Amino acid sequence: MKDAWSARRYDENARFVSDLGRGVVEWLKPKPGERILDVGCGDGALTEQLVEAGADVLGVDASIDMVDAARARGLDIEVADCHELEYFNEFDAVFSNAALHWMTRPDAVLAGVANALKPGGRFVGEFGGHGNVAAIRTALSAVIKQHANISNAPDTVWFFPSAKEYQSRLEATGFTVERIALIPRPTPIPGEMTAWFETLAAPVLECVPTAKRTAIREEASALLRSVLCDSEGNWTADYVRLRFEARSSSKARCFV
Ligand code: BEZ
Repeated sequence: MKDAWSARRYDENARFVSDLGRGVVEWLKPKPGERILDVGCGDGALTEQLVEAGADVLGVDASIDMVDAARARGLDIEVADCHELEYFNEFDAVFSNAALHWMTRPDAVLAGVANALKPGGRFVGEFGGHGNVAAIRTALSAVIKQHANISNAPDTVWFFPSAKEYQSRLEATGFTVERIALIPRPTPIPGEMTAWFETLAAPVLECVPTAKRTAIREEASALLRSVLCDSEGNWTADYVRLRFEARSSSKARCFV
């Protein structure tokens, strides 16, 4: 499959994603010598912070372009679809920032995370929660429907659960949830909303012909201007984060 991600565009337009991920690293509290798996590590900006804390970290991501950027930082990274993680009983912790909302089969991801952890290991992460980018999604969805007659395109690409839903899924996979919170976080973005679309909504726009994408980005941006752009031209995205810390069962798992 073609890689919709560009590490260069991400660095220019979305550096705030890893900058705002520092709070999740504080929840994780990486310790020297711990073996940690970073699920959906992207260009490795936060993976690098875990390594700087003294942890022994493996990052995994499905995008070749992002993996190349992460490897250029000297990190240990594997290319993989995070719905199909194949690690068993080897990590003290699993970490994830701003990635789980791209994985639309969450139970497959959770099963892989549970297998990867040692008994009693922790899973700490943050991603988009219920209500995330609601205005942005509504505008994009309406404009895509007009141009390509496709309904709810964003919902086929993004997974934004409530705290209750994600807690249930964690528990059904054998995790004990220690804390979980939905956090509204209006987020100033650098530059124009069209650049946000180009960088962060590229996989949503894959369902429409390339020739229509510029018009869709511009029309959706025009719809959003009165609600997300102030009189000085500064855009703020209507982000809502879901942050959690869970612990895998302390009993040894039997992988059959
Ligand atoms: C997010 O980090 O919440 C996000 C990123 C890209 C698209 C939608 C949401």
